[in-house]
Amino acid sequence: MFETLQAQPADKILALVQMYRDDPRATKVDLGVGVYKDATGLTPVMRAIKSAEHLLWEQQDTKVYTGLAGDPAFADAMIELVLGDAVPRDTIAAAATPGGTGAVRQAFEMIQMARPEARVFVSDPTWPNHLSILKYLNMEMVPYRYFDDDSRGVDFDGMIADLKTAKKGDVVLLHGCCHNPTGANLNATEWDAVIEVLLQTGATPMIDIAYQGFGDGLQEDAAATCKLAAAVPECLIAASCSKNFGIYRERTGLLMAVAANAAAQSLNQGTLAFLNRQNFSFPPDHGARLVTMILTDDALRADWMAELEDVRQSMLGLRTQLAGELQRLSGSDRFGFLSQHRGMFSRLGTTPDKVEELRVKHGIYMVGDSRMNIAGLNANSVPVLAQAIIAVGV
Ligand code: LMR
Repeated sequence: MFETLQAQPADKILALVQMYRDDPRATKVDLGVGVYKDATGLTPVMRAIKSAEHLLWEQQDTKVYTGLAGDPAFADAMIELVLGDAVPRDTIAAAATPGGTGAVRQAFEMIQMARPEARVFVSDPTWPNHLSILKYLNMEMVPYRYFDDDSRGVDFDGMIADLKTAKKGDVVLLHGCCHNPTGANLNATEWDAVIEVLLQTGATPMIDIAYQGFGDGLQEDAAATCKLAAAVPECLIAASCSKNFGIYRERTGLLMAVAANAAAQSLNQGTLAFLNRQNFSFPPDHGARLVTMILTDDALRADWMAELEDVRQSMLGLRTQLAGELQRLSGSDRFGFLSQHRGMFSRLGTTPDKVEELRVKHGIYMVGDSRMNIAGLNANSVPVLAQAIIAVGV
């Protein structure tokens, strides 16, 4: 029966992981998949996670099922982290999901259930898996301009012009902070303009927020999401704990559906539970429980926030170092955008050929669209990368 299957394209980001592993060169630099690495190249378990795991081991006396939407305490803790008190709690339906990807997938399915004909507006570029999942679900996508190849910032006029063509019943997918793959982000005034367009068109926003705390700070990174959620009648928010809690493999995420009123919330909540049941029954609990313990305990939370802030600062330091090194080597400011970008990623803005040359000749691994994981660098590999970028003539 399975001989009818067609070979599927390899995920471009995950394929790099294996290629990098197979490369014997000691000087190789991995800037592929979005994981944080410390100065020694390790992706550590965060201190607060270790402490919470220890406590959990001591205190947990059952592993019986939670609810279909996960433990409500996890939803409460994450809603407080992402949305604060921006919208009334009784308008928010929420369900734990296997990672941020699970939240994205469930959100798309919820949209499809409500409006099979909905078009989903996606930034050009966006995280490739957004496109892959939408294609798999047979949902219509409409790209909107986002990245300006010259400035390596946001093509804001293009973005607004394209979003104005959305209509009620369409969905606009936005990155809450730390845009993946470009690192280029809207400022507060630009977010206001996007919210205005959403209100004018009646399109429903969906926010993917996977890097809260990696850009300008925990609250700062959620500010646009809060403002938007408060302004529009309804929206979807897919949040990930993979990066900011460093629990990548635990698959911990939350999908939130903000409704106009409490009656609509109840329908949304039932739908989210139903979708979980169809796809995997109960969501993973281990990571969600650790996150809940950390967010609801003053000492653990303070320790987690301090470590997250160190991670953020180290990424900012690497950005400054790389921009400075490139300025020195090129004698120009054309790489200044690297210190303007925020989050794990920056799009270098070069051709797939040059990306290939960087890999073959210099052992530098980045995604084919020239997305670099800045968090994969350290003080020693920054000069190696800068020299290679200049050597290949970017
Ligand atoms: C990335 O973009 O590298 C991360 O979000 C990891 C992934 O699943 O692709």
